[in-house]
Formats: sequence, C-alpha cells, structure tokens
Amino acid sequence: MELFEVIEKRYSHKERFSPVSVPLKDLELIAKAGLAAPTGNNSQCVRLIILPDKEAIKPLYEASPSEILLSSPAAIALLTDSSVVTGKYNFEVEDYSASAAQMLLAATALGYVSLWLDSPYFEEEKQKAALSALGAPVLNPRYKAEEANGSKRENGSLSGGYSLRVVLPVGFPEGEGKRRSKMAFKERVFYRLLGSLKDYKNDT
Ligand SMILES: Cc1cc2nc3c(=O)[nH]c(=O)nc-3n(C[C@H](O)[C@H](O)[C@H](O)COP(=O)(O)O)c2cc1C
Repeated sequence: MELFEVIEKRYSHKERFSPVSVPLKDLELIAKAGLAAPTGNNSQCVRLIILPDKEAIKPLYEASPSEILLSSPAAIALLTDSSVVTGKYNFEVEDYSASAAQMLLAATALGYVSLWLDSPYFEEEKQKAALSALGAPVLNPRYKAEEANGSKRENGSLSGGYSLRVVLPVGFPEGEGKRRSKMAFKERVFYRLLGSLKDYKNDT
C-alpha cells in the first residue's frame, strides 16, 4: 500500500476485533516500524512487549480491564525506560508518540486495524498493576537505589523507572469500524501567518 493511502486509511478501531490471529512476523514488522522512529538525543527509550495472543493479553486486561482488549487477538505494549534518558530535556513523551504513530501506520499497511489505548493505565494503581502484569518493575533495577528514593514524576513518568504508555491492540475488524470526521484542511493549515489562507494571486 502506498504511504499516503496508508495515512488516509488509518483510523482508531474501537469496536470488536475478529478472532483471526496475527502472525508473529507481522507483529515484529509493526514493532520494527516503532523502533525506527526518531528519538530525542537518540535515547531510544521505547521498549515494546509483543503480546501475540489472547493468553498473553489476559494479565494486562485483568490489571486494568478495557473492553477493546477483550476481543483483540494480539497487542503491542509500549513502555518507556526513563533510566536511559540523558540530556537537559526529557523527550520520552515525544519519543513514544512518534513510535506509536509509526506502529499504527505499519499495522494499517499490513491490513490490520489498531488503536492508541492509554487511558486504562493513567491511574497510578492501574499503571503499577499493568507494569507488573507485563513483568516490568516500576523502578528499573539499573537505577541506583538512592536516586530511586528521591524519584519524582517528570513528564508523566517516574524518573528512573518504566512507564506503560500505550497499548496497541492489533487484528482484523469484526465489522466496519467507525470513522471520525476531521476538520477541513483550511481550518488547520495556514500560509505564512496563522489564520492566513492561501493567496493564489501571490503564489508562484
Ligand atoms: C494521545 C492519544 C491518546 C488516546 N487514547 C485513547 C484511549 O485511551 N482510548 C481510546 O479509545 N482512544 C484513544 N485515542 C484515540 C483517539 O480517540 C482517536 O485518535 C481520535 O478520536 C481520532 O480518531 P482517529 O484516530 O480514528 O482519526 C487516543 C489517541 C491519542 C493520539
């Protein structure tokens, strides 16, 4: 599928998935697309956990139930490891967002549907339960204990720790998924100045 066709075709699938399983090689291709995304300072702080079947998804569902994960035949959990982030600014949010966006497009290119699912993991207790279900400690053991004691939340993540950022269910749709409308191009794209529409007369 051509890139711009993929971009047009992608949508958030919030309805049921078909029970048809997803080959591991396709999940790996999607993961590779996520890892190919740019990262601030090349920190590569994104970690991916492939959940290749319902059995692998179950503990995550139990940690924080979400209807959409019930029917999805596979998923990819995206974590960030803040212990590897260096430099003055923390780009974890930007890094995982770029990675998730690329994986959504890769899933679409392979003919699957997916969704950026994060709200079930916002609450601290749910976040901890989900991390535990994925075998990830809240604090990275590589992070020194004395620093961990003084750890604080920065940019939505516990410094020195793992954060579960997004879960992408992956599969075929059971039926036609709902498409959401987008604002018109000219409501969001301007020329030269914010609010200024295209001036055909002055354009070469
Ligand atoms: C940062 C972010 C967080 C999101 N979190 C959720 C979520 O937790 N649950 C959900 O159903 N959809 C979630 N979505 C999907 C949005 O609802 C969806 O992208 C938006 O409605 C536009 O629809 P579209 O993706 O079909 O174009 C999220 C999307 C983004 C970018």
